[in-house]
Amino acid sequence: MSAYNLMQHQVVLSEIVKYKPGFLKYKNVQADEGGKSYGRKICLLRLGHGGNQVFYYQALFHYFTILGDILCQRIDQGGDIMKAVVINAYGGREELKAIEFPKPMPREHEVLIEVYATSINPIDWKLREGYLKERLPFKFPIILGWDAAGIIKKVGAKVTEFEEGDKVFTRPATTERGTYAEYITADASLVAHMPKESSFIEAAAVPLAGLTAWQCLVDFAEIKKGDRVLVHAGAGGVGSMAIQIAKAFGAEVIATGSSKSQSIIKKLGADHMINYMTTPLTEAIDEVDIVLDTIGGDSQEKSFEVLKPGGVLVSIVQPPSQERAKEKGVKAGLVWLEPNGEQLATLAKMIEEDELKPLIAEVLPFSEDGLKKAHELSETHHAKGKIVIEVKKEEDK
Ligand SMILES: NC(=O)c1ccc[n+]([C@@H]2O[C@H](COP(=O)([O-])OP(=O)(O)OC[C@H]3O[C@@H](n4cnc5c(N)ncnc54)[C@H](OP(=O)(O)O)[C@@H]3O)[C@@H](O)[C@H]2O)c1
Repeated sequence: MSAYNLMQHQVVLSEIVKYKPGFLKYKNVQADEGGKSYGRKICLLRLGHGGNQVFYYQALFHYFTILGDILCQRIDQGGDIMKAVVINAYGGREELKAIEFPKPMPREHEVLIEVYATSINPIDWKLREGYLKERLPFKFPIILGWDAAGIIKKVGAKVTEFEEGDKVFTRPATTERGTYAEYITADASLVAHMPKESSFIEAAAVPLAGLTAWQCLVDFAEIKKGDRVLVHAGAGGVGSMAIQIAKAFGAEVIATGSSKSQSIIKKLGADHMINYMTTPLTEAIDEVDIVLDTIGGDSQEKSFEVLKPGGVLVSIVQPPSQERAKEKGVKAGLVWLEPNGEQLATLAKMIEEDELKPLIAEVLPFSEDGLKKAHELSETHHAKGKIVIEVKKEEDK
């Protein structure tokens, strides 16, 4: 008999008495919050949605971590599981683990999406490290990732705008059930049809970064034709979208980057590029209408200096000083992305009209190693565009 270190809300259940697809029954539950439990035939009691879904999933994960193959064999008979890459503790890249996980079921206003591609955003590894645990107090196991493109496999009873077989993309709600998974559910209001002609890989690169850029420039800064817009980190996930959105609105765009990003930034359509490694911002420009701050710290501080009175500083990393904003006569604020299917549909239209094209840095496989490599690249802060994970090959449809 072995001792298991259970996490809060995890349980050990013993002695399976009945099994049928998607369902396991048990007797002799041994539950222990934060303590120790013992058992040989450990199992969980229910898969799929239900009142205590999270509780059961925690139990499932625990089971996998402790007695992986026994549950795999049993569940394989029912086939109601999927592959997911999760973390079961905050920490380094070694915490990323590929496991079997119950396939989610859509609620009445949700759709079930078979994921073909997902993409990496810095929030993924910031959350993995535990930097966001106060803001997002998730329970383990956490499936990271909040971008997906795929095919709808099931629609909830109240969903009218999508049907089975639709190709869609989404930035789903920020929950502990993210998109490093073969299947996800998402509220239909957060989903949009994929741009025609786009691959799943291209589509998965768009939602989080594209919506962030849109909400900063359009919703917060109210960008208009002729504005002078400064985009920090023009070759980054958000910056590469922001340059193109600003150009589509008829703005003059200045973007920052290192010499390695120069040609990319030009190709994205920026009118000017400032090499932040060699040129102080305040010597290179002034009279800017909008600054999109993706860096914070000194970059944000210097950005106040180059704004026109009446201008806008919008940051996605750090709340700007309101005293400084008042002193300079500008509007300044932090934007935290709100998922939005309608805005995603607008981005899809821009892609179809060749106003927007995702910049892909690298495509990696859906595996523990693929995700570890993807995080490593994102953590350098020097990825050029988006890192995409191919979950399923398009030709496997
Ligand atoms: N608030 C929100 O809702 C929200 C949403 C999305 C992202 N974010 C945050 O916004 C930040 C940017 O996200 P992202 O996805 O765009 O990141 P990213 O793709 O990892 O950004 C990488 C880019 O940053 C550039 N870069 C690095 N240091 C720079 C500097 N000092 N000045 C100018 N460019 C620099 C690099 O260009 P070089 O290689 O040429 O240096 C690289 O191309 C992250 O901190 C992320 O967590 C917040």
